[in-house]
Amino acid sequence: MKCRKCRQTAAVNMRHHRLALCAGHYITWIQEQTERFIKKYRMFGPDDRVLVAVSGGKDSLALWDVLDVLGYRADGLYIGLGIDGGVDYSNRSRAKVEAFVAERPHLKLTVVDVAEELGAPMPAAADLTNRGKEKPCSVCGMTRRHIMNRAAHDGGYDVLATGHNLDDEAATLLGNTLSWQVGYLARQYPVLPADAGGLARKVKPFFRFYERDTAAYTLVRGIDYMYDECPYSVDANSIYYKEILNRLETDRPGTKLQFFLRFLHAKETSRAFAQAQTDVTLNPCPSCGQPTANPAGPCTFCRTWEQVRERLVTQVGPTL
Ligand code: AMP
Ligand code: FES
Ligand code: ZN
Ligand code: ZN
Repeated sequence: MKCRKCRQTAAVNMRHHRLALCAGHYITWIQEQTERFIKKYRMFGPDDRVLVAVSGGKDSLALWDVLDVLGYRADGLYIGLGIDGGVDYSNRSRAKVEAFVAERPHLKLTVVDVAEELGAPMPAAADLTNRGKEKPCSVCGMTRRHIMNRAAHDGGYDVLATGHNLDDEAATLLGNTLSWQVGYLARQYPVLPADAGGLARKVKPFFRFYERDTAAYTLVRGIDYMYDECPYSVDANSIYYKEILNRLETDRPGTKLQFFLRFLHAKETSRAFAQAQTDVTLNPCPSCGQPTANPAGPCTFCRTWEQVRERLVTQVGPTL
């Protein structure tokens, strides 16, 4: 197979786009496409300060690399969750992010360590709460979102970028559609505007790339990343939905992309779910100030971590 641009041997063949490219042209293609999506969806401009949430995985490190190469003012945020899972998961993920930055000393990285800041590592903390007994994932996701919002706000960033790719977005869409989660469907979009209550603008510049596209990018760019998934996510619903979508994709290449793009098109042209979006009223949390749907009281983050701290004290005994 030959590169469509230069006729040298192709390094990457994208069946869904009917496009084969050599390593050099593939790198340029990913970077140009990202720029195109950023502009098309008016995600941010060259003067905006972008905070990229980097987990140490392939998507977010690839995204930070692309934004840096494109000349955007992009800093990184890593959240240390304190997950071991028998594979030293969080420490190894952080090491990947730090190695990435060591090769690019002009980049600025902020690290927030959950155990240091909030009093307990994620799995132990989630275990002490009512909703995290079985698995830490929902408490973890909520905590990550809160920390990202706070870091973007406190650091004066214009926008918060995450590495979500097409596989992530299509799996979320499938899950939300199967259970008709109208509120979630209303908010699923590659750009979420800043909110008057202080929530940062959020963007997903990689939402059009298949997971294998970003994996191929890290390979040809020589970016080392954390291969393991979070040890708690092994049987998560999202992985199951991804498998189902992959089966559809094998039989009909392009299914995943069409599924997601047609959803966006329906939202853009028919104002589908628009009502659900305006139905939610947000108030500032009296404790941390972030917007919450709770009409009279603290947000879920504050309530959950208050519970963790109370239960920790009961377990360990009060400090004198
Ligand atoms: P996930 O929810 O694990 O699929 O991650 C989705 C996106 O959230 C990633 O692409 C990152 O941009 C961001 N993210 C996930 N985990 C972390 C973390 N520990 N620190 C910073 N950003 C993260
Ligand atoms: Fe938080 Fe897996 S990353 S539980
Ligand atoms: Zn080429
Ligand atoms: Zn709060």
